[in-house]
Amino acid sequence: MTKSNEVLIFDTTLRDGEQSPGATMTHNEKLEIAELLDEMGVDIIEAGFPIASEGDFQAVSEIAKLSKSATICGLSRANYKDIDRCWEAVKHAKSPRIHTFIGTSPLHRAIPNLTMDEMAERIHDTVTHARNLCDNVQWSPMDATRTEWDYLCRVVEIAIKAGATTINIPDTVGYTAPVESADLIRRLIANVPGAEDVIFATHCHNDLGMATANSLAAVEGGARQIECTINGLGERAGNTALEEVVMALKVRHDIMPYTTRIDTRKIMNISRRVATVSGFAVQFNKAIVGKNAFAHESGIHQDGMLKNRETFEVMKPEDVGLAGTSLPLGKHSGRAALRAKLAELGFDLADNQLNDIFVRFKDLADRKKEVFDDDLMALVYQNDSAEDRLKLKSLRVVCGTQGPQTADMVMEIDGADVETSATGDGPVDATFNAVKALFPHRARLQLYQVSAVTEGTDAQATVSVRMEEDGRIATGQSADTDTVVASAKAYINALNRLLVRREQSAPGYDVKGVSYKDT
Ligand code: KIV
Ligand code: ZN
Repeated sequence: MTKSNEVLIFDTTLRDGEQSPGATMTHNEKLEIAELLDEMGVDIIEAGFPIASEGDFQAVSEIAKLSKSATICGLSRANYKDIDRCWEAVKHAKSPRIHTFIGTSPLHRAIPNLTMDEMAERIHDTVTHARNLCDNVQWSPMDATRTEWDYLCRVVEIAIKAGATTINIPDTVGYTAPVESADLIRRLIANVPGAEDVIFATHCHNDLGMATANSLAAVEGGARQIECTINGLGERAGNTALEEVVMALKVRHDIMPYTTRIDTRKIMNISRRVATVSGFAVQFNKAIVGKNAFAHESGIHQDGMLKNRETFEVMKPEDVGLAGTSLPLGKHSGRAALRAKLAELGFDLADNQLNDIFVRFKDLADRKKEVFDDDLMALVYQNDSAEDRLKLKSLRVVCGTQGPQTADMVMEIDGADVETSATGDGPVDATFNAVKALFPHRARLQLYQVSAVTEGTDAQATVSVRMEEDGRIATGQSADTDTVVASAKAYINALNRLLVRREQSAPGYDVKGVSYKDT
């Protein structure tokens, strides 16, 4: 199984990624991301944690039904109820997979209070149960990198004998280092009976900033499945970033002769889409997908680039789907030019979508001299959705040195227009107070952040907000040339997401509230 040089890419943006505090995605957004992952050549999509909530279950089922080439996987703890629910969701896929896990390290064994023998028996029973439902079963010993070596070998052998087809070795707390990561997989393959009949996978978290290096090292050790997320989204410091491992394997094929099926030209598009729907903006200096990843500031670098781009670039921007330099559009540009530019940026839009974006493009071009690629991306990725219960209809703000600042606002709430006038300590505060007056809520603002999409005083501002209500967190984003309008839309966007989260969370089964203790 580990002889081939093909490495499977297992994307868990919709499961582990969505576990990042605040990275809630709506049902339709999850379907859209799954479709993009499938199109870019991801081998296995972990679409969610079906027992976690009715919303998760529905999303996994729908993604399974719509899947084209990818295997669709769902997560389940080590109990029959979780596994049955997972199977109910993934069984619609052309290629379904059940992923079941249990924490095997001393710290994790202590939580369900199982002895080593009891846990071994639980692993045997649950993997057998999963395998009776589905031919394709992945098993993970959570916190494998802090599990005693002998016990790890013992439980991996049990899982293989019970029918697991993929053994995933998670570095749950981002504790391992590259040399150790390679060595662990190598030794497991050499020592566990039956190891040659299964695929070994690597799942690394980034707590010490070594996730990508650890995943690549695990491949050197014999792993043939890398688990990762777009933009490295995930719990705490996140997971291995899909774009990093895939590009590293492509660019350094000379020393890492492994291949993936990923169409790397689709990377930038999906990265931006995930940033928007999750509300987690990509840091400017993030490898591959950051805004500065292909930017050259110093004179020496710019001079070198003009003479030969290889002086300071190890890959071409086009390889990851960044269009080369191209002229901005303006208010005289027509529908055909817009369509061509969007196609160049990787968007193949239906006529009705193009019409909608064309109207917004014209509106933006009236306010802004030149509309750059990033402006267009921001337009395409506007978060407004037909499912939203709250919508901003109009906003007029009075601000300046003579207070109080006032916001006159009209919102549509569940289909009905409502309006108010509110004051505040500054235009943004007045605007947020108007939203609170029209839609009273207990959610607290945790973060408010403004950044410019492009340069110049007429640049669009992207505003991100993070809100918290009863332990649930949601983020919202919006872009507009008017910073206060962008702020209002971002705030309303976060509220809409909180409402989705409220509906999704059946008591006891909220994904953020699922306790591993229930295993
Ligand atoms: O990090 C981890 O251990 C996980 C498991 C559920 C595979 O995400
Ligand atoms: Zn994880």
